[in-house]
This record gives sequence, C-alpha cells and structure tokens, in this order.
Amino acid sequence: MKKDNQVLAVTDDVKWIGVLDRDIVTFDVVMETKYGTTYNSYFINAERKAVVETTKEAFWDTYLAKIQQVCDPGEIEYIILNHTEPDHSGNLFNLMRLAPKARVVGSGNAIRYLKDLFQPDFPHLIVKDGDTLDLGNKTLHFIGAPNLHWPDTMYTWLPEDRVLFTCDSFGAHFCHDEMFDDLTGNWDDAFKYYFDVILKPFSRFMVKAIDRIRDLDIGVVCTGHGPILRTHWKKYVDLSEHYAREAMQYPEQQRVFIPYVSAYQKTGQLAQAIAEGIRKAGPIEVDVEDIEKSTLGELEEKVTKASAVIVGSPTINQNILLPVYRLFAVITPLRDRGKLAGGFGSYGWSGENRQLIESGLKNLKLDYFGEGVFVKFSPTSGELAQCEEYGKAFGGELLKRG
Ligand code: FEO
Repeated sequence: MKKDNQVLAVTDDVKWIGVLDRDIVTFDVVMETKYGTTYNSYFINAERKAVVETTKEAFWDTYLAKIQQVCDPGEIEYIILNHTEPDHSGNLFNLMRLAPKARVVGSGNAIRYLKDLFQPDFPHLIVKDGDTLDLGNKTLHFIGAPNLHWPDTMYTWLPEDRVLFTCDSFGAHFCHDEMFDDLTGNWDDAFKYYFDVILKPFSRFMVKAIDRIRDLDIGVVCTGHGPILRTHWKKYVDLSEHYAREAMQYPEQQRVFIPYVSAYQKTGQLAQAIAEGIRKAGPIEVDVEDIEKSTLGELEEKVTKASAVIVGSPTINQNILLPVYRLFAVITPLRDRGKLAGGFGSYGWSGENRQLIESGLKNLKLDYFGEGVFVKFSPTSGELAQCEEYGKAFGGELLKRG
C-alpha cells in the first residue's frame, strides 16, 4: 500500500516529513537506484520550530502537504541544511516563501553553495563545529563532518531527543513505505552500494566523523536517504567505519585493473598479454575484465580498489565504445588522481582509440604510462610480445612507486 502522505513520529517532538521516490532509475546520473530512494526531511517541534533538510524540488506538493500536517509553515524559525546538494535543498526556497521568519542554518560552504545554486542572498546563520543553536526548550549542536559527501556537510545533534541528523552519511538509496529500520526488511546490499559510490572516496573523512559521534548517547540516527535508524544504527555506523578503513588500505595492495571491451577478442588478446607481463614484473594482483556488461557499481568498486588502471578498447567508427565512457564516468580525480594508467586496443584503419583513451585518462588526472599498445586488426606474435613487455615495464614502474 502506498503511504505517500504519512508523517512518522521519530520521537514525540521529531517527525519524519520526507518523501518517497519509488521511480528514480539513476541518482546523480551515474548511480543505479533499483530500490528507489527517499529524501528525508525532519520537523523539530520545539519552542522555536525547525526543519532539518528539505526534499528534491519535484516533490514539492507532497512535501508541503506533510509540513502542513505538522505546523503552520509561517511558524518555522530555522531550516537546517546539513548538506546542500539539491536532493536536500531543492525545496528550500519554496519553503522559505511560506516561512518568512525562517533563517537557513548551515556551514560556511553550505551557505556559499546555496547562494551559487539558488539566489544571491537570504536570511541565514553560518555555524561551525561545536556551535549550538537554542530552540527554547531544545538545543541543536553542530558537528563538523566535511566531505560526506560535499565539503559543506555537517551533522546536527539534538541531545534532548537523542537524535543525530547525518544527511548522506549512513544512508542508502532504498525506498520502503515503513521507513524505520526494524520494519523495512534487509537493505544491506543497497547500503553497501551507496557507501561504495557516494562515500567511499571520502573514507578518511568518514572515519573522522564517526570518531566525533562515538561518545554521543544516540537513540536514533536520522539519515538523509533510506531507512531511519532507530534500532540498528550502531550496525550501520560500524559497517561504515569498516568499509572506510578497508578502503583506506587499498593503496597498500598493488592491484592493476585491466578493463576492456572487444568485439572479436583482438583487444581481449592484448589484455591477456599485458596482464601476463604485469604478473612477471613481481607481486602484483591483476584483474582483467571484459566490461561490456559491467554495472557502474562494479566498475566503481574495481577502480577504487585498483592502484593502477589499463584501459582497452577497439576503434569503431572513429570512436571508442560506450562501456569505456561508463568507466570514465566512475573515475574520480578526487580519489584516483595520480594512479598509474595505460591504454591498448586493436583498430581497423584510423586508430582513434589511442588518442581517446590517453586523453580521457589524462583529463581525469591519472598518470599515463608510456604510449600503450595499439595494433592493427589481429595482433601478431611480435605485438603480443610487445604487450607483455609493456606489462612488465608497467608493473616495474608500479612497484618502483611502492
Ligand atoms: Fe543526498 Fe549528496 O546528496
């Protein structure tokens, strides 16, 4: 049964007024959302009324109806934005128009981003780590938690209700009418995928943020997406720390990811020969994969784990193939900058794959090694030997860098 108008009591004075998005197919364009998602917003019924996060703009009618269930919007004095990506801030100014007394509360970056995203000025209050905000009979405490997932992010702690609002952290793209973690069934795969795509690049910030909340007497973690963690919050905080620490280990394990596509296995032969050369260079793990059917999540995970990437594609109609562009979409300079990279591929006559792969990887700030190996149609035994030599040299360089 669809429950699109429901307001849920998180505590006596904190209400969930978020919206369900069952139909979303991809989030931020690149992230698959097969379980849908939710945009969680919360109302705090204090002497000075406050809202934490808004929702994506397309859901304004549903969102407004929920706000009107809990208060007269004109009574709202503060709108706290722990994060300003438009899935959280999309209805901020629609709400502000009905809440003339309201001030927007956020980090310095958050207020700057809102000015750049929406309008040059508005009533606001910049808060920093350790600041508090008096709501009369309740107090908000702000905890610096940057880069989870933008530089603007922070957490908000409401001790009187033992509620911690965490925006993207500990969330998941998972839509379920019941919303509370003890009622939604298992969503662990959605949680892991969300962590991998949204938060893993910022693992060291995740560990720092978790350190900041360990001593709080938390009753409920109110996430920005997916279930409200009133029962199992510790499990998802612990899992986040585990995944983050695991991700921070990756650079210590030399691992080369060799993603390729190959219509007739010519480029595939090159991939295997390069892999063989890398293995001969020393103790390096090599992961060779035809990525024609790989999901974005699988690609993201392999790129994240890899200390180096060598990309293979044939030239077809003077271009490289779509799966390689999908691979490029999950390479993040913030995380992957400086990783050793290379290219290879077969071509028929004009050979644009060489330039397209090299420039694509360089534009993404990877460190392109040598000239790669690009051959006309079927590789000869000499060209396969050249691939092996390239692999050996590539592996040698990787080991030298340590
Ligand atoms: Fe849920 Fe980074 O936005």
